[in-house]
Amino acid sequence: MTETSELAGTVAIVTGGSRGIGLGISHELARAGARIAVVARDGERAEAAAAELAGEGHAAYSCDIADSRACRKTVSAVESGQGPVAILVNNAGITRDNIVLRMRDDDWSGVIDTNLGGAFNMIRGVARGMMKRRAGSIVNVTSVIGLMGNAGQANYAASKAGLHGLTKSVARELATRNIRCNAVAPGFIRTDMTADLAEARVAELKDRIPAGRLGNPEDVAGVVRFLAGPAAGYITGQIIAVDGGMTMQ
Ligand code: NAI
Repeated sequence: MTETSELAGTVAIVTGGSRGIGLGISHELARAGARIAVVARDGERAEAAAAELAGEGHAAYSCDIADSRACRKTVSAVESGQGPVAILVNNAGITRDNIVLRMRDDDWSGVIDTNLGGAFNMIRGVARGMMKRRAGSIVNVTSVIGLMGNAGQANYAASKAGLHGLTKSVARELATRNIRCNAVAPGFIRTDMTADLAEARVAELKDRIPAGRLGNPEDVAGVVRFLAGPAAGYITGQIIAVDGGMTMQ
């Protein structure tokens, strides 16, 4: 199979692009020809990730996406250093699990501010430029937990369900400007976030997944590449579950 470079000449921001699913997305979009802006809290790790990507013109930025000023600064640094942003992938996210009765204020606000507020900050940061150029694609990485809910993850589920509403609202607001906004909702994917799951729990999960296995970052990255690129030019406001069939109706 020959590799296509459908994203050649474009700049793509990937938040949390330094590890796990985000690193998989950075690799996939780089292989499609995009110049990647790897945005993460840990600048050194982001540098290391940017250095290992295929092709040229990638760069790393240390930024806490929960901080709206830092997001504005990062977007303008990307635009002046690498060029106009054509693609934004809001992938960065955290969990701070607890049952509702024991959930502390900062567990609630930390997860909402990062997962939902961070995506909003970055979307607002890139929207003006995309509107002027009448071109752009935004992909939000959400979760099947945002569709189903999960005991012990009220904050995380609310943040991801909020992202679904944000995705559809942005899609409606910007569609006439040729800017698309979609979401990918992964099921259980093997990364640092799921590394602590006990083997018994993994076996139990596999029983609920028709495909009979957990996913890999590459399973998610391929769908993000599709949604980011021209093949998905008439798709906006959609939430695509990448979950081995777990949430099919
Ligand atoms: P991970 O924990 O391996 O990586 C998260 C990335 O986000 C890291 O690069 C981290 O630096 C970055 N990040 C976190 N907070 C940040 C902040 N405030 N500012 C900037 N960067 C920040 O996580 P993983 O598993 O790769 O998850 C990526 C996304 O996929 C998350 O949004 C997660 O909710 C979602 N997801 C993951 C699933 C899984 O099974 N691993 C399942 C469903 C969704």
